[in-house]
Amino acid sequence: MKGIILAGGSGSRLYPLTKTTSKQLLPVYDKPMIYYPLSTLMQFGIRDILIISTPDDTPNIAKLFSTGVHIGLSIQYAVQDEPKGIAQAFTIGADFIGNDDVCLILGDNIFCMGEQLNTFQDEINDNNGALIFGYHVNDPERFGVIEFDDESRVISIEEKPTKPKSNHVAVGLYCYKSDVVDKAKSLKPSARGEFEITDLNKLYLNEGRMKACFLKRGTAWLDAGTPDSLIEAGQYVQIIEKRQGLKISCIEEIAYRAGYISKSQFKSIIDSLSDGMSYKQYLQNVYEEN
Ligand code: TTP
Repeated sequence: MKGIILAGGSGSRLYPLTKTTSKQLLPVYDKPMIYYPLSTLMQFGIRDILIISTPDDTPNIAKLFSTGVHIGLSIQYAVQDEPKGIAQAFTIGADFIGNDDVCLILGDNIFCMGEQLNTFQDEINDNNGALIFGYHVNDPERFGVIEFDDESRVISIEEKPTKPKSNHVAVGLYCYKSDVVDKAKSLKPSARGEFEITDLNKLYLNEGRMKACFLKRGTAWLDAGTPDSLIEAGQYVQIIEKRQGLKISCIEEIAYRAGYISKSQFKSIIDSLSDGMSYKQYLQNVYEEN
């Protein structure tokens, strides 16, 4: 299973924060936004990852993670010249995907699913077409609303409907079989000039090959695309981290606990950080506790 993080876009709702930097490099409390989607893929057991961003931002994101080998990953980078739609991730990533299945996550989507993350691994491995993820919200009319049957087979996804058929909306996380590349290549740009993920999903829906997994109550799905949601996401992470004394989406800790890196590799990461950093102290505590 390969993973793609789509981390480009224009970030216009966050202007002027995004005038000189990528939305995905902005802070969500104590780490850059892109740590969160990366950690979601890592917790799914996905270690072969392509990050797609803009021509300006890709080099900066590459500075952040490099090849990923220090955290037991293989990270590659690709450029999306213009924000021409989410489904373009699969044509840009065609060679990277090859004959593998793939999981796409949007760079501004933050998931705090706790233990439920692990249960999704089976669903992802059993996926025979497209697997989307749904979250119960209070205001479904603002999102893509999922209609589904008793066996979680998707009947329809309606974008911003006036009369939503459920309270479950599609989040920025999608898993597909490798035929997604050919399907993405067959798409035509929409009226707004984008290769739409909705059009791609419709192809699977028409073949009866789309299922949905639902995040449980008590879990969090936050997208950090507006000034309000950015600060709310930061506050959410701050509250949980301060209360528990455990970090959300600490990629080095995840790599260590998942066995992607050895104890000595983990120690090397810690030693490479300057004394006095609270992040270093946190990692040191994890190291000593184990
Ligand atoms: P959006 O929030 O829909 O778009 P945006 O990031 O450009 O922001 P704004 O609407 O404020 O201008 O994108 C969702 C995520 O998908 C975000 O992480 C950026 C990413 N994305 C791309 O990388 N390329 C694209 O072509 C699109 C449409 C989105």
